[in-house]
Amino acid sequence: MKVLIKKEDLKRRIKELAKQISEDYRGKTPVFIAILKGAFIFLSDLIRELEIDCIVDFMAVTSYNGSTESSGAVEFLKDVTMDIQGKDVIIVEDIVDTGLTLDYIKKVLELRKPASLKICVLLDKKKKRRVKIEPDYVGFEIGDVFVVGYGLDFGEKYRNLPEIYCYEER
Ligand code: PRP
Repeated sequence: MKVLIKKEDLKRRIKELAKQISEDYRGKTPVFIAILKGAFIFLSDLIRELEIDCIVDFMAVTSYNGSTESSGAVEFLKDVTMDIQGKDVIIVEDIVDTGLTLDYIKKVLELRKPASLKICVLLDKKKKRRVKIEPDYVGFEIGDVFVVGYGLDFGEKYRNLPEIYCYEER
């Protein structure tokens, strides 16, 4: 598999994102809601670069079911544990592709009346968008390639790879 984004580039860009978020939320304690499973590594690196306090929670959804194409149906697997009403919430995702997952999660969370709701994604695959979703913080824009590593899987494998690779089905 070919490396698409190297370790050093991930580290540098995540540091920049954390700096930007720290400036934007100065004096606040945002709630970072990471979408499992893919976002767990990005979240852990991102929050360790923050200069502000934060709270962490998790939601789990899935729509790819072991394929490289979205099934189009988002399956809800796990909810957050805290009440986010009146809180500043930042959704953390590894990748936005069709946008169906984030569109669904955003709608679910908006109903709970957070004080603010923003989206932070590591990878933005703009070309494949099926619904209008504009993340507030983006690590990297990527082309129409299936990627694995750094939390992202194919058939549940490769999440542990330290860099982001282009996956080609054989
Ligand atoms: C991946 C990824 C995002 C979603 C993005 O999750 O982690 O949540 O797909 O794709 P979309 O914009 O087309 O909806 P997946 O369903 O593979 O579950 P996982 O995070 O557990 O791997």
